[in-house]
Amino acid sequence: MVTISAPRGADHARILGVGGYRPSRVIPNAEIVDAIDSSDEWIRTRSGIVERRWATPEETVQMMSVAAARKALERAGLEARQIDCVIVATVSHFIQTPSVATTIASELGTENAAAFDISAACAGFCHGISMAADFIRGGSARHVLVIGVERLSDLTDVTDRGTAFIFADGAGAAVVGPSDTPAIGPVVWGSEGDRADLITQKADWRDALESGETPYLTMNGNPVFRWASFAMAKIGQEALDRAGITADDLDCFVPHQANMRIIDALARSMKIPDHVTIARDIAEMGNTSAASIPLALDRMIDEGQAKSGDVALFIAFGAGLVYAAQVVVVP
Ligand SMILES: CC(C)(COP(=O)(O)OP(=O)(O)OC[C@H]1O[C@@H](n2cnc3c(N)ncnc32)[C@H](O)[C@@H]1OP(=O)(O)O)[C@@H](O)C(=O)NCCC(=O)NCCS
Repeated sequence: MVTISAPRGADHARILGVGGYRPSRVIPNAEIVDAIDSSDEWIRTRSGIVERRWATPEETVQMMSVAAARKALERAGLEARQIDCVIVATVSHFIQTPSVATTIASELGTENAAAFDISAACAGFCHGISMAADFIRGGSARHVLVIGVERLSDLTDVTDRGTAFIFADGAGAAVVGPSDTPAIGPVVWGSEGDRADLITQKADWRDALESGETPYLTMNGNPVFRWASFAMAKIGQEALDRAGITADDLDCFVPHQANMRIIDALARSMKIPDHVTIARDIAEMGNTSAASIPLALDRMIDEGQAKSGDVALFIAFGAGLVYAAQVVVVP
């Protein structure tokens, strides 16, 4: 009988470098309130958002991804040719095939790295980190580039009161590689497809072509808000338990940036201690879906709020409904 060899990978995996790209156009609340009969005060009080970034036509999904990835590679001290797999988490790249990951891999200068897109909405980056860690431990790849990128402004109806002030654009990236010690904890992830209608597109693209109307994102915000604030605290706690640590052991808390009140509610329910630095990038960036966690972490590293070796908790959640949480060591 033929025996197929089954190589094993590294004992452990870790994030080696993180990078972000923030689009150049800053959109303050004042610029969007008239179209939705709202006010700067309402938006700040209900969501904590002060301004957001919307990409220019030149700031494409590919362009933003490459910029974020170059920063992550530089921080990791690696060349693009050392990357053997590129995972791009996005729901707002308008070409379904080929994946945008292949052209990103090629523009970066990887040597025929495996490359593909994944669709897990705001939890896409954390799904990608989990896959990367498993690929590295399983021997499928040595260095994986994970990108979370969105141009949600293309899918946002600027006259929709429930979404126009929330969604925004940007890219974040992480290089994941082998490690001697555990530095990416077990993922706690899942889906609740019976509530798929809470955040969805108005129509599929075929119907949109016939009607001529863009299939914008729609959201039933209140149930999403309640789900995220309560159910996700349990998922975060499970991620801590599975990593064998408690909230006291954390240095940083980097939840998906969906709403400042959700961030506060999660921190309260999980009893995140005062010494833990909490990501609050939502105020200046809005909700950038798959990009929000790496963008927030990139900023915390830039501003010295997260240091190499710090222990951080990611909790991500969004359309699907889907979620993923894990403990990681900051590169
Ligand atoms: C969208 C969100 C900020 C709305 O806040 P909320 O407290 O749930 O607000 P509600 O939808 O219950 O509306 C409350 C009131 O504000 C009004 N309102 C809604 N949108 C408004 C707006 N943009 N400006 C001003 N008033 C608005 C409503 O008409 C309602 O008025 P009423 O009390 O007179 O009926 C909140 O639901 C949220 O953040 N949801 C989760 C969003 C999210 O994270 N999505 C992505 C997940 S990845």
